[in-house]
Amino acid sequence: MLCMCLFLELPPRPELFDFHGVSMTHYFTDNWENIQNFQARPDDILIATYPKAGTTWVSYILDLLYFGQTERQRTVPIFERVPFLEVIFPPLGAGTDLADNLPTSPRLIKTHLPVQFVPRSFWQQNCRVVYVARNAKDNMVSYFHFDRMNRGQPEPGDWSNYIHRFMEGKLAWGSWYDHVNNWWKKKQSYPKMHFMFYEDLIEDTGREVDKLCSFLGLSRSDEEKKRVTGGSQFDNMKKDDMANYSTIALMDFKISHFMRKGKVGDWKNHFTVSQNEEFDEDYKKKMTDPTLRFRTEI
Ligand code: A3P
Repeated sequence: MLCMCLFLELPPRPELFDFHGVSMTHYFTDNWENIQNFQARPDDILIATYPKAGTTWVSYILDLLYFGQTERQRTVPIFERVPFLEVIFPPLGAGTDLADNLPTSPRLIKTHLPVQFVPRSFWQQNCRVVYVARNAKDNMVSYFHFDRMNRGQPEPGDWSNYIHRFMEGKLAWGSWYDHVNNWWKKKQSYPKMHFMFYEDLIEDTGREVDKLCSFLGLSRSDEEKKRVTGGSQFDNMKKDDMANYSTIALMDFKISHFMRKGKVGDWKNHFTVSQNEEFDEDYKKKMTDPTLRFRTEI
C-alpha cells in the first residue's frame, strides 16, 4: 500500500486560478498534457462527479460489484483502486500513471473534471460513464467541511463567504451549476452515461445498485447485490480505513471527517433563512432546465 503520510512538512494550501474559464488548483492541472493524452480503453468506466457528490461511495459500490470483497479491498486504499485521473500529488504521484498501471479489468477511474475537459479518448472509445450528482446545498456544505480539513484545498474562509464563492463558481473544479448542467446535456447525446443522484442512493441503495447493474450489463445474484448494498452503507465505509481516507496526512480529522455525516438535508443546519432565500433566488436563474431536478430533502 502506498502511504500518504510521507510529507516531512505539510505544503501550503494551493491557490485557485482561472484555467480555461474554470477555477482550478495546480494539483489538478500540473499534469495536463498527460491527462489530455490519456489513452482510455473501451471497457474503462469513468466515475464523474462534482467534488463531494458521492464519488467515493459509488467508486466503492462499483469496485465491490466488479471485484468483490478480496485481499485487495482489504489492503489497497480506494484512491488507488479507483485512481483520480487529474490529480498529481507528490507522495501519490499522477492519477494518469496509477490508471495506466492498474491491474484490474475493467479499470474504474474517477474524475471531477467538467465535461469539456474530459480526455477525448473516453468518448472515442465509447466508455461507460457514471455521473453522480448531489443537490447544491448539501453538496456545498460537504465541500465546505472538506475544504476546512483538507490542506490540499484552498482556504475555505467562513461559511457566509463560502456560499458566495460557491454561487460564483470560485471553488476548485469551478461552478457546480455548470458542472451538473453540462454533464446533463452531454447525457442527451451520449447514451453510454448513467446519471444518478446521491439522494436516490440514500433513499434506496439497493434499487440504485440494480440500476447500475443493468447499465453495466452485470448479472449478479440477489445475495451478491445485498452484500454490495450492505457493505457500502455509511457506517461500514466510515470504519474502513481503505475507504475513509484516514491515511492521508493532508486531511485533519480533528477538524472534520471525510465520511462526515452522509445525509440529505444537513444544509438546514448551516443556512440562515436569509442565506437560503438569496441562494434559492440565484439558483432559479442558473438552473433553468426543467428536466434536471434535485431533491434537497427526502
Ligand atoms: P458529507 O460530507 O455530507 O457527509 P465524495 O466522495 O464525492 O468526496 O463525497 C463525500 C460525501 O459523500 C461526504 O458527505 C460523505 O460522508 C458522503 N458519503 C461517502 N460514503 C457514503 C455512504 N456510504 N453513504 C452516504 N454518504 C456517503
